[in-house]
Amino acid sequence: MLIQPQGVIQKPGEPFFLNPSLLALNVFETAIAPDILEELAPLAEETRAMEDLGGRYTLSNGARLYNERPRHWRSDICWLSHADEASFDWFNRLYARLGLAALVAPFVPHDREVRLYAGFFVTRSRCDALDMHHDWKLESNEAFTLMAPLTANAGDLGMTYETVTGDRRDLAYRVGKGLVFGPSFLHSTAVGALAERAVFLCLNFGTDRMDNWANIGATTARQCELLRQPDGSFIRQEDWRRLYGQAKGY
Ligand SMILES: [Fe+2]
Repeated sequence: MLIQPQGVIQKPGEPFFLNPSLLALNVFETAIAPDILEELAPLAEETRAMEDLGGRYTLSNGARLYNERPRHWRSDICWLSHADEASFDWFNRLYARLGLAALVAPFVPHDREVRLYAGFFVTRSRCDALDMHHDWKLESNEAFTLMAPLTANAGDLGMTYETVTGDRRDLAYRVGKGLVFGPSFLHSTAVGALAERAVFLCLNFGTDRMDNWANIGATTARQCELLRQPDGSFIRQEDWRRLYGQAKGY
């Protein structure tokens, strides 16, 4: 049994790790540096007004965002992703500063590096019903999500998740703590409503191997227009769908 620096436990030969304090698979908390939070706080404020489905927006730092709003979710969630490669590069620099690749590298099968696929600001102010889901439907820890709250009201509308014993628990978000989670972590936005949108930095990252990209990309392609692939090249969502989507019933 290996106890990892993240406080999680992975038995040799097992594909997934256990977080004993959350009693859940493939999830851990990580500290977000204060200078990063300070830098993102005014940008998070700007994203609260970016609500139109398919809208394109420019942050005051020049980063361009595209808004995807999944229609079937019982919430007002907005996925504001990098709208071009230069904006992706800005998210990628944040990803490097957060040190996320090193944190998940022990768990991710990869050749050279753990790569960012997409960066987002996620905003939502209400959720009417639970939508329990796995971000990643994968057999091994090839991909992870970071959700890091940027506004204080994120603590008032948290996450509901399922433990390994099948119980449901609520997890409160705290500014300064990011939640990192992979496959087999069953969760939903908690039910509730806020006076204004709570804002999160959200990153999708994982293996640099292309072998299982049809399954890995299925998550990210639903939420953004431009994806970076495991091999480092970019692909537009429509091209991803054409190449990988139909075979998987996407
Ligand atoms: Fe999710």
